Amino acid sequence: MIDIDRLINSLQKNDFLKSFFYEKTLSSTNDYISANEIAVDSLVITDEQTAGKGRAGKKWLSEKNTSLTFSIKKKFNISPAENQNIIRFFSYCVHSALKELIDGSNINNSDGLIIKWPNDILFNGKKLCGILVESKLPSDIYITGIGINCNQKYFQAELNAISLSEIIGNEIDITGLLINILDKFNSLKELLHPEKSAILFEKWKMQAKIIGKYCDFTRPDGKINNGKIIDLNYDGSITVKINDKPEIFNAGELSLTGID
Ligand code: BTN
Repeated sequence: MIDIDRLINSLQKNDFLKSFFYEKTLSSTNDYISANEIAVDSLVITDEQTAGKGRAGKKWLSEKNTSLTFSIKKKFNISPAENQNIIRFFSYCVHSALKELIDGSNINNSDGLIIKWPNDILFNGKKLCGILVESKLPSDIYITGIGINCNQKYFQAELNAISLSEIIGNEIDITGLLINILDKFNSLKELLHPEKSAILFEKWKMQAKIIGKYCDFTRPDGKINNGKIIDLNYDGSITVKINDKPEIFNAGELSLTGID
């Protein structure tokens, strides 16, 4: 369970957020923000999601009290062409907080921690964190939902998931992790300025250690192929070499299902 007093205390030093809403149970923190008159710069957090949403209409399954599930509503005055920056900012900040936590453990280091294009976070090929950014274009309001497997012990095999407690060998302090992530948003928020977008891209790309790897991927028509990842591009697309021919795909045009 989230320790609300600790959270309130930490938010006093955080300019990235102005208010927060906590409920023991919600269907989905992203849906709660969309359906209610929640001000911008707000955080919504719950101990249990009963209908968590993933990208591309998928479900996000998380166990009560052992997962971190929260969403943030922000207004960003950026052009639609730059909305990749939002995805990169949130995935880079969450990755940084997870990296510090894992590197501070005795039994593992963060070598296996990657940002999987466009914005999942994997450890040794298994899903640790999912991020869902929703915006109603042309609005400049973005709702970013983040789910992290923290102390969950068992997952359905087909989810290919892992939790932080499995990685570091003991139960983690979920409130402490949340505070560290929110502190990253605050301390790195300059990266959201348009003139910093090239720096953000380079930082994000360095942690998206999938270039040169072979992957399976599923096209929207369900066709499964495999190929070698050649590059991650500034416009948000990915270049994959299939049968010796480079092909470029946008996020949503294919989903990576296996990375060696
Ligand atoms: C994905 O990997 O497909 C994205 C998963 C995003 C899950 C989070 S949990 C908090 C927020 N509320 C939701 O319903 N989804 C996001």
